[in-house]
Amino acid sequence: MSDPHHTADHDTHAAPAPSAFKKIANIVVLLGLPLLVVGSLVSYYKAQSGGHVVSDMSEEAVTGRIQKVGMLQLGESTREPKTGEEVYKAQCTTCHAAGLVGAPKFGDAAAWAPRIATGYAALLNSALKGKNNMAAQGGGAFADFEVGRGVVYMANAAGAKFEEPKAPETAAAPAAAASEAK
Ligand code: HEC
Repeated sequence: MSDPHHTADHDTHAAPAPSAFKKIANIVVLLGLPLLVVGSLVSYYKAQSGGHVVSDMSEEAVTGRIQKVGMLQLGESTREPKTGEEVYKAQCTTCHAAGLVGAPKFGDAAAWAPRIATGYAALLNSALKGKNNMAAQGGGAFADFEVGRGVVYMANAAGAKFEEPKAPETAAAPAAAASEAK
């Protein structure tokens, strides 16, 4: 007996509650559903475009990295050693073409003769380490034998008969082996 009464009482009491709840639920659904739809559309779109952008970028990045590494290896292992003329034109001509700051002028036998007389080793030493107004390697960044070729190129142009130094085989071999191992 108390049960039906309780239920009835509960129902009459609860009667306004469901309707209020329904209104709130309606509002939530009316406002929330479009928000949900828009939100999920936005996140779907984001995921779609974001995914595309990421995959495109990583592809580019991967290609870029492969290219960079490949180019670096090419530069390191297969760079042609510079000839004396190339070294001269790249670095030494600045001072030696016109005889700037006291440099013996290119092709000036009189200026070079006393220097040539000191021998190739002494001239190479000066060129590698620098002398007075000339910085080490004339300010360049070459292999030592390339600087040597530059010295020979200039000295021979002024009457010397030095032999052009060859590229050391031992220096190239480990580099080639290392790049093959990779
Ligand atoms: C910044 C200017 C400058 C540049 C660049 C330069 N030289 Fe010189 N070079 C000099 C001057 C100055 C002297 C004379 C040094 C002295 O005897 O006082 C000289 C002297 C020399 C001599 C004679 C050294 C001796 O013992 O008498 C050689 C060899 C030489 N240079 C080679 C080179 C080579 C090779 C290069 C390029 C890789 C080069 N120089 C680049 C300024 C330069």
